[in-house]
Amino acid sequence: MAAVGGAHWSSRFGFLMASVGFAVGLGNIWRFPYITGENGGAAFVLIYLACAFGIGAPILIAEILIGRRGQGSPTTAMTRVAAESGRSRHWRLVGGMGLLAAYTIEIVYAVVVGWVLWYLFKAITTGFVGFDSVTANAEFAAVLDSNVGMLFWTLVGLAITGLIIYAGVKDGIERAVTVLMPLLFVLLAGLAVYNYLASPSGPQGNGFSRALTWLFTPDFGKIGFDTVLAAIGQAFFSLSAAMAGMMVYGSYLPKTVSITRSVLIIVTLDTAVALLAGLVVFPVVFQNGMDPDAGAGLIFKTLPVGFAQMPGGHGFAVLFFLMLAVAGITSMVGLVEAVNSWLEDRFEMPRHHSALLLVASIAVFSVLSILSYNVMDHWTVVGKNFNDAMDYFSNQILLPVGGLLIALFAGWVMSRASSQDELGSSGAEYTLWYVLIRFVVPPAVLVIFVMGVFG
Ligand code: ALA
Repeated sequence: MAAVGGAHWSSRFGFLMASVGFAVGLGNIWRFPYITGENGGAAFVLIYLACAFGIGAPILIAEILIGRRGQGSPTTAMTRVAAESGRSRHWRLVGGMGLLAAYTIEIVYAVVVGWVLWYLFKAITTGFVGFDSVTANAEFAAVLDSNVGMLFWTLVGLAITGLIIYAGVKDGIERAVTVLMPLLFVLLAGLAVYNYLASPSGPQGNGFSRALTWLFTPDFGKIGFDTVLAAIGQAFFSLSAAMAGMMVYGSYLPKTVSITRSVLIIVTLDTAVALLAGLVVFPVVFQNGMDPDAGAGLIFKTLPVGFAQMPGGHGFAVLFFLMLAVAGITSMVGLVEAVNSWLEDRFEMPRHHSALLLVASIAVFSVLSILSYNVMDHWTVVGKNFNDAMDYFSNQILLPVGGLLIALFAGWVMSRASSQDELGSSGAEYTLWYVLIRFVVPPAVLVIFVMGVFG
């Protein structure tokens, strides 16, 4: 048996960079800071850590091991692994759910990556010099009003993603991520250190130390069920759990590489990037007396005002949006490659055709997402416009239900001999994973899903 197209990572490093690239995305740098802001800071961070390591990591291990065991696109891999354990081939529908999640998320995600690329362009050309909160708000409103502009930059992002997928697993994805991910880490660390050095005590206090306190001093009084819901949702999204891509990346993974250790590295780096992103975003927010609770516009409306006021703000702004663009594109690659592998596998399409077809179809649907920021904003079904509906369907339904079914499959359905064979038969690592995936993940995700939908 060989993975789709006979593709394989050439090294463990290549796999790790691709997976970390898929995990680290807008979810870490754009979403994590504002969700943390909305949920009271450190208390949320603490719950997030528990969700990422206790629930997200075991699911990622399950996905990668199913992908490697099944050596195929998600539906094929699920079918094969189920068959090996004498179980129904209908389990392939779980692979299908992951693919649907990846496709749905990609449509909305591509547009936000488009905003990032547009802001990168604005940062290079204007540096946001002279921006105040009125001009920053007006700028973002103008972006959301310009269908042509949003479409143009969405297409730029999709074209870059498409080219990487088109070039193949080794020559495209692996090559791109081994350059881009180290670049991202250097940029992020550089920006955090700069913030630390350039954050003098001003009328608003020292921005960096206030950010540290905000992120790392928990107020347990702020923890409620909503905090837990937000944390688990963020963990799924940020780790790219149940989005089919990790299964596909696992199918390209040589047998010699340890899955548990790799996942530990992926989750640790993903979390570290989110926290460091907090130390890049919040010092700017606090230093300038701005509101950490500004929601989804935090990066686009709040930060440019901070950039305008900080020393070296022009360069900082360019590097910040460059970093965000790298994070966004490498995550798009994971989402698109998931569905691409299925097209190659299911319809025996050459990669060059499947990549083009897929990117073109995402571009067409992304027009709906773009229009929902303005003219179609009021076109709602059960009170949700297109973007909110897609977000709800993918993040509230497909990811938790998919994660739950993957956990049930790996813990209760697939034979223990198969999972032991993939993960290494003995040792505390296997036992810990087995206990978590059988007894902790399913009830936790079920409760959170039911409360999220019906509570
Ligand atoms: N995991 C990706 C992100 O965080 C999708 O943006």
